[in-house]
Amino acid sequence: MTATPVLAGRRALITGAASGIGAAIARAYAEAGAALALADLDAAGLEAVADGLPGGTAVTRHALDVTDDGAVRETVAAAISAHGGLDVLVNGAGILSEVPLVEMDTATWDRMLEVDLRSVFLCCRHTVPHMIEAGGGRVVNIASQLGQKGGEGLTHYSAAKAGVIGFTKALALEVSRHGVLVNAIAPGPIETPLIGGLSAEWKAAKGAELPLGRFGRPEEVAPTAVLLASDPGGNLYTGQTLGPNSGDVML
Ligand SMILES: NC(=O)c1ccc[n+]([C@@H]2O[C@H](COP(=O)([O-])OP(=O)(O)OC[C@H]3O[C@@H](n4cnc5c(N)ncnc54)[C@H](O)[C@@H]3O)[C@@H](O)[C@H]2O)c1
Repeated sequence: MTATPVLAGRRALITGAASGIGAAIARAYAEAGAALALADLDAAGLEAVADGLPGGTAVTRHALDVTDDGAVRETVAAAISAHGGLDVLVNGAGILSEVPLVEMDTATWDRMLEVDLRSVFLCCRHTVPHMIEAGGGRVVNIASQLGQKGGEGLTHYSAAKAGVIGFTKALALEVSRHGVLVNAIAPGPIETPLIGGLSAEWKAAKGAELPLGRFGRPEEVAPTAVLLASDPGGNLYTGQTLGPNSGDVML
């Protein structure tokens, strides 16, 4: 007898799905039986990820700038219409740059907060009311361990990710009683295109200080996102920040 896949019947909207951690979560969710609405700025990347999913996966692609309120509203509506509802939202889209505070211009600060924090508000703002109406749902926000411990040259990124962690707790307090469970994942350094722009010095120093002695891979983060979306595995988590982080932060 084959076991029922753990996310069978669940419909998930995943932002940042064209690359890295978002793409790995898309693959893990598809393998777990979920139907997927994949969203990203990178339409070609979305195609490639969708084409690589297991045959039979119900998947829609949505080219989207997560900082655009109207576009987020339309994408959520399109995903609900295509899949008949949404049970899971994964906020994975993000950017990263390394700039010392004394050199940072306001445009760099504002863009970071817009993409890495305001987008989480927008995607939740348009998705959570539907989940409440449907009687429940799961939100998985991809934060970062740098939002817990900070990082040199990363005041903007660390502030945005700390904001995601605080937002997660506050929203969990508001909506858990409606069956909407809201959690964050704060990965440590993961080998994806995102960290390609960090200096070799930063990466070498970071690798040396990790208790596991190595960066993680996206497929080592995705199972945590499966857990948080699953029943019964994820049923008791809300307002939490889980840390697949090579031991970089120990709480
Ligand atoms: N890689 C790491 O070390 C690491 C560690 C902790 C947290 N994170 C977080 O994980 C998430 C995924 O990062 P990743 O490492 O997979 O990076 P990645 O660069 O591989 O993927 C990020 C995706 O987000 C998309 N994106 C960026 N701006 C967007 C926008 N305005 N609208 C829509 N899509 C947009 C990109 O096109 C890309 O496909 C991010 O939130 C990141 O901050 C990454």
